[in-house]
Amino acid sequence: MFCREFTSTFRNYDPRSIRWPWLHEETLARLRALPFWAQAVKTERTAGARVRLMADVERDPLVREAIAMQAFEETRHAALLEGLIEHCGITVPEPSADQPRNAEWGFIRMGSGEVFDSFFAFGLFKIAADTGFFPPELIQIFDPFIEEEARHILFFVNWAAWRGRNLSPGARAWFELRRASAMAIQAMGRMETAINLSRGAGAGEDFVMDAHDAIDKSITLRRLAETCLVETERRLAPYDERLLRPTLVPRLVRLALRSMGNGGATM
Ligand SMILES: [Fe+2]
Ligand SMILES: [Fe+2]
Repeated sequence: MFCREFTSTFRNYDPRSIRWPWLHEETLARLRALPFWAQAVKTERTAGARVRLMADVERDPLVREAIAMQAFEETRHAALLEGLIEHCGITVPEPSADQPRNAEWGFIRMGSGEVFDSFFAFGLFKIAADTGFFPPELIQIFDPFIEEEARHILFFVNWAAWRGRNLSPGARAWFELRRASAMAIQAMGRMETAINLSRGAGAGEDFVMDAHDAIDKSITLRRLAETCLVETERRLAPYDERLLRPTLVPRLVRLALRSMGNGGATM
């Protein structure tokens, strides 16, 4: 079911045939000033390589088809970003994708990373649209990109449940340990960036956190968290309700919101 939901919601578009809109000088300057373009392209390329490797070793034909489709979409994300960068006259050093060594670990790292980052990306994208940080023409072009990340995280959590269920108890414990480690590595990396940002050091390594910093520094942490919760739910709502949803990050954020009380700390 999770594979069919994934493959049946594929969208056919070619980033090379996009007609990039004319952008106002002010918008161009704002986009050029964002510090994360090289990292963003590299992240998508690395994602494409990691997912491709997993597709190559997957033996179930239906699961392999879905994973190969995701690899195609990640590579398309890199091409879409490169199209925008070129249109804006931004030059980035030729990014090389990190080559994964172990297919399953690479896929778990990548899926856990996406589950974590997409939660914030959904909210930031909405804020970028609402505040006019990105003009509507660009929001329209990038909406399928964001939508695809929702499909990817939905696929990943269901794939992980399916994979765990098909393993022997010992192998399953090892698999779950790897999943938990991947999530912890991602969370620690993001926490480090958040601390660096709060100290005033732009990291450049982490485009989700940098994006928040660049889009609107005055936004309260509470509003950001609430927007991320609402947007994540909205993005995942259209898919079959019998499929599992990522719950860990929303749960942690809800908990943090409750412990924050009604304060509106800015980030
Ligand atoms: Fe992607
Ligand atoms: Fe993705």
